[in-house]
Amino acid sequence: MATPLIDDDELDDLEREFVARVRGRVLEIGVGDGENFGAFDPDVEWQGLEPDATRRAELATRAKEWRHAAVPLDAKAESIPLPDHSVDGATCGFALRNLVELPKFFDELGRVVRPGGRIALLDVGVPRNKLIRSGNNLYFGKVVPKIGGLLSDGAAYRYLPRSVAYLPSPQRMLSDLRDAGFTEVQHLQLSGGLTQLLLGTRS
Ligand SMILES: C[S@@+](CC[C@H](N)C(=O)[O-])C[C@H]1O[C@@H](n2cnc3c(N)ncnc32)[C@H](O)[C@@H]1O
Repeated sequence: MATPLIDDDELDDLEREFVARVRGRVLEIGVGDGENFGAFDPDVEWQGLEPDATRRAELATRAKEWRHAAVPLDAKAESIPLPDHSVDGATCGFALRNLVELPKFFDELGRVVRPGGRIALLDVGVPRNKLIRSGNNLYFGKVVPKIGGLLSDGAAYRYLPRSVAYLPSPQRMLSDLRDAGFTEVQHLQLSGGLTQLLLGTRS
């Protein structure tokens, strides 16, 4: 079996690292069951959004345990049930690949984030280096689905390799973020390109 170039624990560590930097009223998109709670600054006013009912139920329980007052929103990223300019920032970890219409999501972020507010969107990437890229394809294409399938519903993991390929180019995403009202937009490749981070400030 191929050695993973980056494993799930490392991906989790990266996500928690950037989550720890956000402040104020923060919207977390595609939260899952709330793995990041321990990483947020204690003063953050957290608001989560998670469309999957089973995950959201678990998330609601964990949110209470972490003393977050907000009930997780039953909604999709492409249509966020919050007023205009109502959050100081937004984060999204490894959920971009689930979104069918990224520009619609970016527009929604532009609407709900207040001027001067920041966004940080992390996801797996497609490394530029051929050798790393082929290892990555093998890992996400063959190894992750197999391990995932052993642990739970294999189909839930099999969306990973397909959807990485569906993510638009960095240039496209940066351009769409600008169109949605963000400035200082940046695309960073982390871990040799195995993950990618999009940053922006609402103008
Ligand atoms: C790979 S999981 C990541 C969960 C969590 N952020 C983490 O890193 O552990 C992707 C999450 O996105 C959610 N999701 C799927 N479609 C979505 C959509 N249209 N809008 C928001 N979240 C979505 C899934 O239910 C799932 O919880």
